[in-house]
Amino acid sequence: MADAPTIERPRNALQQAFYREVLAGLSARPRAIPARWFYDRRGSELFEAITDLPEYYPTRTETALLAAHSREIGTVIGPGRAVIEFGSGSSTKTPHVLGAIDPAAYVPIDISGDFLRHSAEQLSERFPELPILPVEADFLNPVELPAGVRGLPKLGFFPGSTIGNMSAPAAVDFLRTIHAELGEGAMLLIGMDRVKSTEILIPAYNDAAGVTAAFNLNLLHRINRELDGDIPVAAFRHNAIWNDDAARIEMHLEAIVDVRFTVAGHSFAMAAGETIHTENSHKYGPRGARLMLAAGNWTPIREWIDPDGLFALLLAEARAPETAP
Ligand code: AVJ
Repeated sequence: MADAPTIERPRNALQQAFYREVLAGLSARPRAIPARWFYDRRGSELFEAITDLPEYYPTRTETALLAAHSREIGTVIGPGRAVIEFGSGSSTKTPHVLGAIDPAAYVPIDISGDFLRHSAEQLSERFPELPILPVEADFLNPVELPAGVRGLPKLGFFPGSTIGNMSAPAAVDFLRTIHAELGEGAMLLIGMDRVKSTEILIPAYNDAAGVTAAFNLNLLHRINRELDGDIPVAAFRHNAIWNDDAARIEMHLEAIVDVRFTVAGHSFAMAAGETIHTENSHKYGPRGARLMLAAGNWTPIREWIDPDGLFALLLAEARAPETAP
């Protein structure tokens, strides 16, 4: 790819990856940009707003599960673990876990440093004795854990069905990576969204107030802001569709009319009706969820599900499943 004379050299590794992945994604067919790029400051705020929407059931359902079963969760997991949270965001669910299990340390890992520092401060008010050791990193890459948690038994915490963003092979790679990272005797507490009726699924990703649309479209604003783009954002609309074969919600940005634009000095053209695929949100059946964990070297030992069967919280152990026969 040619040089990009119109923008300064991206400042850090993250900016460089954004630059690379956006240009590659806009050039690919079908066009697709990884969902992790939603989360600049504005995108993180919009996602927080999504979690409060009446149509968006996952956050409140998972939080209620954590609250309702905190005693049992505490008993099964036990005290003295270092809790490692992958993609901690604003850490709103974390107090439920920390309060339930009497942990030895808390390590939030997040790509957004702002959010990370803010939530670490808030948590230290509620848990003044607890060592909080934030790591600013993309949790998809292997992360070096802080020296302060070496030798401690670990609990991985991966709520929100964030795993749903990953394809099956990427999810299995990730589960295996954190299995190796968290080590001997580790446990994993993970939220996984369930397959359900499209009458519930579609509005959850296309809400009446238009917050999810704004969240999706913010990616284009971010590209314009950070990569010197001139994308006509008003010429795009938010689409959320259920892909039944792949058991996932897909979000797309669809060009309403023929558009031409440049990003970092590179020209692109899209015909009306063409889309940029911006997110997959995979949903799981009970067996699919357990199979995914097992494929990633985690043995499921407990499962908590809300009465409406919307969302599942699974607890798994880092040990190879029985090998017989
Ligand atoms: C953060 C990936 C779990 O897939 O439900 C919410 C992101 N996208 N609304 C999800 C999201 C649109 C969310 N995850």
